[in-house]
Amino acid sequence: MGLHAEFVISAMSPHQFPEDGLPEIALVGRSNVGKSSLINCLVRMNKLAKTSNTPGRTQSLNFYRIWPEGKPRFGDSRRPQGSDAALLRGSAAEAARAAGAFYFVDMPGYGYAKVSESQRRAWRKLIEQYLLERRELCAVIQIVDLRHPPTQDDITMWEWLRYYGKVRLCVATKADKVSRGQRPVHAREIAAGLGLRDGGEPGPGPFTPEQEPLLLFSAEDGLGRDKLWYWVLGVTRQARGR
Ligand code: GTP
Ligand code: MG
Repeated sequence: MGLHAEFVISAMSPHQFPEDGLPEIALVGRSNVGKSSLINCLVRMNKLAKTSNTPGRTQSLNFYRIWPEGKPRFGDSRRPQGSDAALLRGSAAEAARAAGAFYFVDMPGYGYAKVSESQRRAWRKLIEQYLLERRELCAVIQIVDLRHPPTQDDITMWEWLRYYGKVRLCVATKADKVSRGQRPVHAREIAAGLGLRDGGEPGPGPFTPEQEPLLLFSAEDGLGRDKLWYWVLGVTRQARGR
């Protein structure tokens, strides 16, 4: 059985969030930075998360259930209710936890100028409420663009995550757009801008959130994919052990 991923729900308000208790990893970042592409790259499915050239495309919290070791066949008593991708209940949820399943939660991007002030406020409230109150949230991946220094919004977001003690990883994506020689230069600039304690890449483990590494990534050529998987599996394993 191989890796399996499925879209579960696009939630506009907290009562729509899944209730099966699986650990969740949220993806935050500027609009159009490449959050959805990163999810697709990790699961090797081009069309799982919608991507586009139009910023502000992701307007709700999109939950993708990921089965790193494949989706087990549920026996009759464990059959999920409703459609296959629907919310899991009872023994099916337990089986999913045992199988190491978790969610990627694709968040609306921030910093998009053409969004109305009221829309911006609504998103902000939904995002903050989710990040602050969601018990299933075990880690946050903040994505920035390797080509540019962090924006003020990037810095505010990262400081917010640090202030609230969230398990977090900063990923600098679109590395394929920067020449190999320039990548360390850009990485240092981002690390300095965000005040990362360690500008290096995540080590081979064990996982320590306090390292605050910067992971270079490309959804185009898969750079950093294996390292990111290593980190993701580490934090979800820790969450299950809690
Ligand atoms: P919103 O949902 O609007 O917030 O955007 P997003 O952060 O989900 O960005 P998305 O994944 O939709 O990508 C935006 C654009 O950047 C698309 O045209 C992608 O093809 C492109 N893109 C994303 N990641 C990469 C990358 O690693 N390399 C390159 N070259 N292009 C990328
Ligand atoms: Mg998106």
